[in-house]
Amino acid sequence: MNHLIGGISSGGRALPEIDGQPFIVQRSQGAWLWGNDGKQYVDTAMGFGATMLGHAAPRVLAPVIQALQRGPMPSFAHDLETEAACSLVSHTGPLSQVIFLNTGSEAVHLACRTARTATGRSRIVRFAASYDGWFDEVAFGNAGSSEAQMPASATRPERDGMLLLRYNDFTDVDRLFHEYPDIAAVIIEPVLANAGCIEPMTGYLKHLSDKAHEQGALVILDEVLMGFRLHAGLTGHLLGVDADLATVGKAIGSGVPVAALLGKPEIMQLFEDKRIVRAGTYSGNPPACAAVVATLEQLRQHDYLPLLRSGNQLRSDIIRAFADEGLPLSSSGYGSVFTLWPSDKAPADYAQAAAIANARWSLDLHVALREQHVMTMPFAFGRIYLTFAHDEAAMQALLKGYKAAAGKLAATAT
Ligand SMILES: Cc1ncc(COP(=O)(O)O)c(C=O)c1O
Repeated sequence: MNHLIGGISSGGRALPEIDGQPFIVQRSQGAWLWGNDGKQYVDTAMGFGATMLGHAAPRVLAPVIQALQRGPMPSFAHDLETEAACSLVSHTGPLSQVIFLNTGSEAVHLACRTARTATGRSRIVRFAASYDGWFDEVAFGNAGSSEAQMPASATRPERDGMLLLRYNDFTDVDRLFHEYPDIAAVIIEPVLANAGCIEPMTGYLKHLSDKAHEQGALVILDEVLMGFRLHAGLTGHLLGVDADLATVGKAIGSGVPVAALLGKPEIMQLFEDKRIVRAGTYSGNPPACAAVVATLEQLRQHDYLPLLRSGNQLRSDIIRAFADEGLPLSSSGYGSVFTLWPSDKAPADYAQAAAIANARWSLDLHVALREQHVMTMPFAFGRIYLTFAHDEAAMQALLKGYKAAAGKLAATAT
């Protein structure tokens, strides 16, 4: 009898069995995974984006182990907490105040609570088809759900004070604030990464954040996935968003569980004034803070441009390999995080993404790639994450795997 529900602790980890065997990871290092089948795989799931440095980055692990040995849970303030905060805010511009937490979901939860107290309003808005964690208030309207569809004529979905907004739709922004002048905050996942890396249209995020501010609403950047993925900082800042609050996680800890709420001082002062509850036995624990300090030190030394370039080259090469087999393929996103679509044109909004998404195709591609020792997320809205550990050998293994998989898909299509 399996005592672990479904054999996994988080729904996103589900993988198809091959030859009746579940895939169980034995070890991960750099860009590679070793499975219970005795094979070595080049990995593109990479902890769902929880590292830019690759699995088990030695320069992060060493200080984390040291912090564990010095005591993982000292109850009271410790130096690493302050050091991690200073290090993090050196990358986040006006968002200079930090509270550490353990997961992105907690950070989003605290961001919503903060915005409600700061504005005295209760309604919060997030993008249809985005993902902002799994806590009650945000766990609806995700990619693939019926609410995410949001046809223009339909009533705006709302649940427990959370409203949905159509991503990349300028008119829907104007309509939203006309319909609801009392919004506390807008949560912006700057790239709709969780719906397959749909990129923001030029000026869209600025239009939304300007409109929010005009109406007295706060802007929360949810950077749990995109933070530190395109540069050593927030993607929203690259795109001109003036955020009041931001959430980060994943890449800041290189696989060690840690997240943070960042904010402008005048808003974060509410915590100093004890007007907002914050807690957490493990919030800001020493190993997590050691991971942040060591990770950011490493990220400062890495140049993102070559990674983005080689990731983009890989995307074009994979598309060409599919075209050589007569198969349509396109890609949305960036060199370090992207999605592949079984169509000639990548989606520009969620309606297009939902129309192209093909769960069967994604699963078949995943299985064909696994046969080639390439590990991918098996879902239609899944992403390919590349890191600084994806060296030439890993990139070649990826391309070779995709070429063979294209051949197999073409052969089974005929
Ligand atoms: C944009 C975004 N926000 C929040 C979360 C939730 O983070 P966590 O899984 O650490 O709770 C995720 C996780 O994938 C995410 O991608």
